[in-house]
Amino acid sequence: MNKAKRKAIIAGNWKMNKTPSEAKALLEEIIPVAKDAGCEVIACVPYVDLATAVETVKGTNVKVGAENCHWAESGAFTGEISTGMLKEVGVEYVVLGHSERRQYFGETDETVNKRTKAALAAGLKPIVCVGELLWERECDITEEVIARQIKLDLYDVNAEDAKKCVIAYEPVWAIGTGKTATADQAEEVCAFIRKELAKKYDEETAQAITIQYGGSMNDANAAELLSKENVDGGLIGGASLVAAKFGAIIDAATKG
Ligand code: 13P
Repeated sequence: MNKAKRKAIIAGNWKMNKTPSEAKALLEEIIPVAKDAGCEVIACVPYVDLATAVETVKGTNVKVGAENCHWAESGAFTGEISTGMLKEVGVEYVVLGHSERRQYFGETDETVNKRTKAALAAGLKPIVCVGELLWERECDITEEVIARQIKLDLYDVNAEDAKKCVIAYEPVWAIGTGKTATADQAEEVCAFIRKELAKKYDEETAQAITIQYGGSMNDANAAELLSKENVDGGLIGGASLVAAKFGAIIDAATKG
């Protein structure tokens, strides 16, 4: 089974939640529930929480990610954070192209691509998010949308670097809505993503890349979603803010 060879990754995307002291408290609850994980566990937290998070998880198996980064090394980009800043703080992963950035903050495939290349150049591992809007699914263009995002977001990224990326399939209609894609829907698109990666690169590269599902994943539905051959992990919003629920998702991934 190829799935068994890939790294299962459960990542929390905390979005705009938790102050530094709250982040410390939540991580202190997550650490014990993650300690026997048979998968990689990441907490992607707001910028101001990063230093506290890195300090809190030291010596544990929990890793820390940021929720975005800029592509320039430095300069006149008020409000932005560079990859060098993240590296120095001790961050390992960075979420890029999340649909909330695309919807509310003008993120485009072009800027996602620039951020992805900058993150890779700095030695960060990008979690690149793709996903269709509800009306795109209703218009039956899900595959076109996803294929376009994969091509553009990973433009000029070579196979070796692509293997350092995680792809998160997050149907926009399933995010924060309580409306999860069915396991079959998630599998269908994750398998399609892998097919596109094989077309762009080669089969071996495609088989090596971890593909996550995200969108209302929780303790009740994780096991079924994660049992699918091409669903290698989860990017979790709401449920990642509750240690017991996040722990149950980690357990589901561990059981595979
Ligand atoms: P929810 O799990 O809250 O639906 O959020 C998913 C998400 O956007 C993760 O990046």
